[in-house]
Amino acid sequence: MKTKIATVALALGLFLVCVAGAPAQQQPLPEPGRNLSNNAEMWRGARQGVQGYVSIPNKQAGVLVQSEGENWRNLRNGPISTYGTWLLLGIVVALALFFALRGRIRIEAGPSPNRIKRFGAVERFSHWLTAVTFILLGLTGLNMLYGRYVIRPLVGPDVFSALTAWGKYVHNYISFAFMLGIVLLVLLWLRDNLPTRADLKWLALGGGLLSKGSHPPAHKFNAGQKLIFWGVVVLGAAISVSGLLLMFPFSVADMHEMQLTQLGHSIVALLFIAMIIAHIYIGTIGMEGAFDAMNSGMVDENWAREHHSLWVAEIKGERPSPDHGPHDPGPHDRGPAGGATRPA
Ligand code: HEM
Repeated sequence: MKTKIATVALALGLFLVCVAGAPAQQQPLPEPGRNLSNNAEMWRGARQGVQGYVSIPNKQAGVLVQSEGENWRNLRNGPISTYGTWLLLGIVVALALFFALRGRIRIEAGPSPNRIKRFGAVERFSHWLTAVTFILLGLTGLNMLYGRYVIRPLVGPDVFSALTAWGKYVHNYISFAFMLGIVLLVLLWLRDNLPTRADLKWLALGGGLLSKGSHPPAHKFNAGQKLIFWGVVVLGAAISVSGLLLMFPFSVADMHEMQLTQLGHSIVALLFIAMIIAHIYIGTIGMEGAFDAMNSGMVDENWAREHHSLWVAEIKGERPSPDHGPHDPGPHDRGPAGGATRPA
C-alpha cells in the first residue's frame, strides 16, 4: 500500500514537472455514460478519452482514444530527448574542457614503491557487477530513446529491429543483476559514506581538484565520492522502482501512471548516465592511480596519502598531520626519484 502511495506521489510530482508546458484541454469532458447525440460531440468525447462501456474484464478497452498517450509521446520524443542530448553532450564537453585546462591529476609526490590494499575482491566484484550491467542498461536504453535517429540510418531497419528487440531482452533481464549490484554496494559502503566534518572542508576547497598542491583531508571516501555514492543509491532506487513498474505493466499503476513512470524512468536514466560519465572520467584518464583501486585493489601509497590522508592514518594507526596540508612523503615511501615532487 505504502509503495502504491509513493508511486502515485512520484508520478504526480513528475506529471507536474513534465506537463507544465502542455496545452490545456479546450473542451470540457462529456460525463461518462452520457448519450452523445451528435457526431461532433461523440468524436470530441472519444478524442478526450471518455470512458465507454465494454463487457470484457479490461475496462481500459472502453477508452477509444487515449489522448494523454499523445502528450506522453510528445514529451518523450520532444523535450526529454532534446534536453537529454544536451545534458549528455554537455557533460562530455565539460569534462573535455576540464581535462584541457587542468590536465590529468597526477600523484604529486611521484609514484611510491609501497602499495596499500584499498578494495577487496567482494568490493571489486560488486562494483564491476554494477558497472558492467549499468553500461549495458545505458546503451540498450539509449538505443530505445535515440536509436531510430542514430543507429537505424546507419544499419537499416531490419538490423535495427533485431538489435532493438535483443537489446530489450538484455535490458529487462540484466536489470536484476544491476539491482543486486546496488544492494551489495549499499551493504559494503554505506558506513564509509556517512557524512563527516572533513567533508565540509573538502567541499569548501572544491576537493583541491582545481589547483595543484591542494589536497583536503579525506577518509576512505571523500565528499565528491560520497555524492556519487548517494547519487547511485537514490537514482538507482528510482530507476529500479520505475523499471519494475514498466516491466510489469498495470500491476500497480494505471495507464496514466504508466506514462508518467516511463517519463520518470527516462529522466532519471539520463541524469544517472551523465553522473556516471563524470565518475568514469575521474576513475580513468582524469586521475593518475585511481583505476588501480578497482583493478587490482592495491593503490600507490603516495596517491592514497594525497587523496585519502585520514584513511591512511586510520589504517596505519598514525596521527594525521594537524594541518592536513599537502602530503610530504616520509622516508619510507619515497620513490626511486627520492620522492622529489614531480614537475607538472
Ligand atoms: C568503466 C566504468 C567505471 C570505472 C572505470 C569506475 C572506476 C571506479 C574507481 C577507480 C573507483 C574507486 C575510487 C577510489 O579508489 O576511491 C570507483 C568507485 C565507485 N564506483 Fe565506479 N567505475 C565505473 C563505473 C561505475 C558505475 C556504472 C557505477 C554505478 C552505477 C559506479 C559506482 C561507483 C561507486 C558508488 C564508487 C564508490 C564511490 C566513488 O569512488 O565515487 N562505478 N569506480
